[in-house]
Amino acid sequence: MRKLTLSLAPAIAGGLALLLAGIALAQTGDPRHGAQLFADNCAVCHGADARGRIGATLTKDFPAINVDAYLRQTIANGIEGSKMPAWGKVKGGPLSDQDVEDLAAFIVGLRGGSVPPVPAPTIAPVTIVPLPGIKGDASQGAIVFQQNCAVCHGTRGQGRIGATLAKQWPSMDPARYVQQTVEKGIAGSVMPAWLDKNGGPLAQTDIDNVTAYVLSLQTTSAAAPAPPAAGSISLTTSLIGLGVLVLIVVVVLVVYYRRAK
Ligand code: HEC
Ligand code: HEC
Repeated sequence: MRKLTLSLAPAIAGGLALLLAGIALAQTGDPRHGAQLFADNCAVCHGADARGRIGATLTKDFPAINVDAYLRQTIANGIEGSKMPAWGKVKGGPLSDQDVEDLAAFIVGLRGGSVPPVPAPTIAPVTIVPLPGIKGDASQGAIVFQQNCAVCHGTRGQGRIGATLAKQWPSMDPARYVQQTVEKGIAGSVMPAWLDKNGGPLAQTDIDNVTAYVLSLQTTSAAAPAPPAAGSISLTTSLIGLGVLVLIVVVVLVVYYRRAK
């Protein structure tokens, strides 16, 4: 009997270790990936330092007993009746369960402390020809858009959490409609009010500029020029690449057929 227990001991210990490791893995998100997700999705409302902008401050002691579970469920499901969107895939959001866990791990780690530096997205300036008779500067507006709206409306206004904006506006006065929607937000949805006078983070010039940019999306529709994200290949670069490729193929074919004659 004694012998049996001894020989079983390593197996039991090993099994326990595996189990514990499994539990640890299941519970811990990756806070570094969470930091990146935060910068891409949450900073727009909670501030780059997580101390609040449109949304609440997140660097605090949460009153919940199980903070990690509270955070995961709040992030995944959003907060009904507020501007806090549901991010989980199950609720129609763009983030996976693992993403949500990584974010929770990142926010738990903030507790009263400061946000570790997150690489700020570099937004390359673009030149956008404004529609006639629109007062804002669409090129400036493109930057405002990437910083504030792309998170919900997509980098080219194609839609993500928010509606698609690269479309024809059914309104009699699209400029007025877009501008007022952006200034006031949409009650009962997560679309925030952006104008500083309405409690938002943007000045009137920013609103005028982003309105001009949003209106410019309808002429080019989905092919609207998106400021290329850092590290991505721009459309022009890929078009030039394609052109060069076609040229090479043509030259090779010509040479081949001349030889064949
Ligand atoms: C459109 C703006 C907006 C975006 C984007 C946003 N939030 Fe929020 N969030 C809010 C608002 C507003 C609240 C406060 C809601 C309330 O309590 O009425 C909130 C609340 C929260 C809370 C609960 C805070 C508390 O004190 O209990 C957490 C956690 C949170 N957000 C996490 C996130 C994470 C993580 C992301 C990114 C994946 C994110 N939020 C993106 C607006 C936003
Ligand atoms: C938290 C996500 C979120 C952010 C950030 C956001 N929006 Fe929205 N927006 C929405 C949603 C959701 C709707 C659709 C609401 C509805 O109709 O119920 C919407 C609707 C709109 C509409 C009206 C669309 C239509 O078809 O009538 C405009 C215009 C608009 N947003 C512009 C902007 C601009 C400009 C910004 C940046 C300054 C911005 N939004 C940022 C979520 C967002």
